[in-house]
Amino acid sequence: MLLEVQNLKVSYGNIEALHGISFSVDRGEIVTLIGANGAGKTSTLLSLARLPRPEAPTVTGGDILYNGQSILKTEPHVLIQKRMLALVPEGRHIFGNLTVLENLQMAASSRKRDAGNIAETDETESLVYDLFPRLYERRKQRGELLSGGEQQMLAVGRALMTGADFIMLDEPSMGLAPKLMQEMFRVLKQLNYQRNMTILVVEQNARVALKFADRGYVLNTGEIIASGASEELAANPDVQKAYLGG
Ligand SMILES: Nc1ncnc2c1ncn2[C@@H]1O[C@H](COP(=O)(O)OP(=O)(O)O)[C@@H](O)[C@H]1O
Ligand SMILES: [Mg+2]
Repeated sequence: MLLEVQNLKVSYGNIEALHGISFSVDRGEIVTLIGANGAGKTSTLLSLARLPRPEAPTVTGGDILYNGQSILKTEPHVLIQKRMLALVPEGRHIFGNLTVLENLQMAASSRKRDAGNIAETDETESLVYDLFPRLYERRKQRGELLSGGEQQMLAVGRALMTGADFIMLDEPSMGLAPKLMQEMFRVLKQLNYQRNMTILVVEQNARVALKFADRGYVLNTGEIIASGASEELAANPDVQKAYLGG
């Protein structure tokens, strides 16, 4: 397994948000974690990314294994430098006062500046523009002038620029019109089959997420209550009742 989360518990102060969850993601898979608002989706991704953010929870139990090795004590910059994973955060977090191009370049700055990496960074930049032609048209625009959909594309573009082949996305569908949402998932699917990109996506929009992913887990107030192939979950009456409005 590329990623194995084992009995993970996390807290904010003395409030426990994840009560011992276990799930895994294999290389090349698309896996989704679905759950309502407050279920613990963002807490899960922030714990995996190991970001030293003030809003990140503290891991109080369990383990996170990457290729079989615990990353609980790994510095976040090491995860990025070794291109182990990249997070597309909730709310996108792009730099509003920087242009599209500057946002992309900044995300690549963790790569060493040797000739090989510069060539590779240029290649990734072309890939991002191929996937999202809209970003190429807007490359000199400041981030704050982009539409919500364009900002989400840029947030995905930034994750790609790190060179990681495992990306985690926090509610990429949020705030997107249906057509843009379909387009976003189409591009992610393309990255998965053309580049063997491993994808972990957390979503409140269970319907869309289960169409997109190979496998899924249902997260309910800090616990995983169901798991299986996406079609299986989508056919599960309890899942339908609670998450698919039927
Ligand atoms: N910074 C924080 N401080 C205290 N509690 C938090 C914080 N962030 C999230 N929580 C709590 O942790 C639980 C899980 O939240 P979160 O992971 O954001 O859920 P989701 O992303 O699924 O909506 C919720 O009960 C939420 O209120
Ligand atoms: Mg969230």
